[in-house]
Amino acid sequence: MATASEIAAVGVIGAGQMGSGIAQLAAAAGCAVLLLDADSAALSRAVASISASLRRLAAKGQLSQTACEDSIKRIRCVSTVQDLRDADLVIEAIVENEDVKKQLFVELDEITKASAILASNTSSISITRLASATKRPSQVIGMHFFNPPPIMKLIEIIRGADTSDEVFAAVKSFSERLGKSVICSQDYPGFIVNRILMPMINEAFWALYTGVATKEDIDTGMKLGTNHPMGPLQLADFIGLDVCLSVLRVLHNGLGDNKYSPCPLLVQYVDAGRLGKKRGLGVYSYA
Ligand code: CAA
Ligand code: NAD
Repeated sequence: MATASEIAAVGVIGAGQMGSGIAQLAAAAGCAVLLLDADSAALSRAVASISASLRRLAAKGQLSQTACEDSIKRIRCVSTVQDLRDADLVIEAIVENEDVKKQLFVELDEITKASAILASNTSSISITRLASATKRPSQVIGMHFFNPPPIMKLIEIIRGADTSDEVFAAVKSFSERLGKSVICSQDYPGFIVNRILMPMINEAFWALYTGVATKEDIDTGMKLGTNHPMGPLQLADFIGLDVCLSVLRVLHNGLGDNKYSPCPLLVQYVDAGRLGKKRGLGVYSYA
């Protein structure tokens, strides 16, 4: 198994909001990045947004022009899981659905080299259960980035029931190599941050649903009243309402308390395809 400094090739699966930011970070840290998505249009969008993000950092003097262009060149878009066979570390950032993620872990286990570490950027799903889909549960770990990954300073590392100390140490040092601070969570629904954040977002939907206040007043209240950079409804749109709903369902099913039951308004928005900023419409309109 590669140590953090030996991780040279990183596979990133899912080139959406999170996968594109994760690919950017790994490339900027000097890794060869193989970026995979089931949707080729998502790959094109990811390359454009990574290039824009790196050039923005270069324009601000936070990265040299050469480092910026070299980072862009280190990212290769690929179209099949087989293309990840030489990766030292694979970070999965696909849809927040346990069955779909498990199927991917089965394929990754078959295709990647025996020493590869398999990480998931899941927001809430059990790492132990994802690991159980593989024959290498000691090499499966949660590596939870925050949105937007290039800006947010944290990675929450989740140890599955069988994650080895060696794999934990390698992923912790690799996260630090990406310039992030690390916290460690045991493998319980929603881990640390989403266990606390999502009930707040859900409560904001209940406040809107039951007519306590307008969406603008709910968000302004939390921004100015508690110094959050975004109000909870604006943040939900930024994260993706589908992601918020999936996380709340994992909390509700896994912890069994009604306080995690998703607000009907959130469910209705997702049913209507109002997924937030990424789709141009959520609680707010981004047209
Ligand atoms: N790449 C590079 N730079 C970026 C960037 C990106 N993708 N996105 C923003 N930036 C930079 C901007 O260039 C800007 O830099 P300067 O200040 O040097 O000009 C800086 O970040 C701030 O950006 P903006 O001025 O565009 O906007 P802002 O001040 O409103 O900040 C924000 C944007 C950083 C997203 C801020 O609103 C924020 O922190 N929001 C809360 C984000 C948050 O809570 N994320 C966690 C969500 S929960 C999660 O991720 C876990 C989960 O599982 C759901
Ligand atoms: P997104 O919808 O922006 O992107 C997901 C991408 O995965 C899409 O481009 C989709 O085409 C691709 N995809 C779906 N199934 C696939 C498969 N089987 N194989 C290959 N590609 C596939 O989603 P996102 O917001 O980037 O979230 C991705 C993951 O990261 C989720 O597990 C989510 O819970 C987690 N996460 C999200 C946030 C956030 O704020 N959005 C923060 C931290 C973690």
